[in-house]
Amino acid sequence: MIRVSGLTKKFKGITAVDSVTMEVARGDIFGLVGPDGSGKTTLLRLIVGIITPTAGAVSISGAGGGAGSGGKYPGYMPQRFSLYGDLTVMENINFFGRLYNLSRKTISRRADEILELTNLSSFKARFADNLSGGMKQKLALTCALLSRPDLIILDEPTFGVDPESRKDFWKILYSLNGEGITILVSTAYMDEAELCRKVAFMSGGRLAAVDTPVNLKRNFPFKILELKAGLGDPESLAGLPGILDADMFGDRYHIRVADAGAGRKVLEDFLAARAVDDFTLREVPASIEDIFVALAESEAV
Ligand SMILES: Nc1ncnc2c1ncn2[C@@H]1O[C@H](COP(=O)(O)OP(=O)(O)OP(=O)(O)O)[C@@H](O)[C@H]1O
Ligand SMILES: [Mg+2]
Repeated sequence: MIRVSGLTKKFKGITAVDSVTMEVARGDIFGLVGPDGSGKTTLLRLIVGIITPTAGAVSISGAGGGAGSGGKYPGYMPQRFSLYGDLTVMENINFFGRLYNLSRKTISRRADEILELTNLSSFKARFADNLSGGMKQKLALTCALLSRPDLIILDEPTFGVDPESRKDFWKILYSLNGEGITILVSTAYMDEAELCRKVAFMSGGRLAAVDTPVNLKRNFPFKILELKAGLGDPESLAGLPGILDADMFGDRYHIRVADAGAGRKVLEDFLAARAVDDFTLREVPASIEDIFVALAESEAV
């Protein structure tokens, strides 16, 4: 559905997107994750066609579902709220519908369908400024769906939205996907990365590790030891022999090692030397977050 090859975008001195080659298959839920400034937004904007690449190419096949189905372009939801706060929900929808050259009748019919799906039907007359964060994002999604695209591209659609509304939003994405809509979505949330059928990790403008969450975990070459103990900072752990890195996950440390047995021994000795005897140490399966921390550390994957 989307084919990107050698895509590069340079801004004065910064290579925001660096020779990215990737493919999004029809029907995918494709997730793009990566730290701030890693180039996610720039990549999505290149794919949508809002900015032109310095090098490389993007091709989108069959966007719009073929002749006569309207909407030649993918639906796009930018990272920042792009609607008018001083217009109501329905006024925003009418405005965007007319940008797509849809008739009033079509807009109103589609709006009814989509608002039902996004649970906004009873808020048609509310000013966008007065919607909650999660509802604003649903309205933006509604507008992105008006042209009936068969591909939608969403840039951190749930950023800053409460966990309950994030779940709602993903239910909607799944139901759209179930109707055949291909989804390309960037996210800062690792639990959302787990929900994608395919995940790509972006770092310094490059893509690494494009795979299903299951395969990413299966192929992860390290072990994760989880330590719960009252220690000062994880930095002191990271300097120990055989410890590749250590990060805080809530109230526990996730410690990346090549060999679980050897790592455990090093940590137990370390704790014994500090007379820490109240701790739990166990091996846990690597989570998507562990994998991304490791990828971000190594950068040059
Ligand atoms: N229009 C622009 N002019 C100059 N530099 C830009 C422009 N847009 C992006 N950049 C730079 O390109 C790099 C990638 O930015 P981008 O917004 O694509 O990252 P991101 O992964 O979306 O980050 P975030 O998670 O914060 O949204 C950054 O260094 C950014 O400062
Ligand atoms: Mg961004």
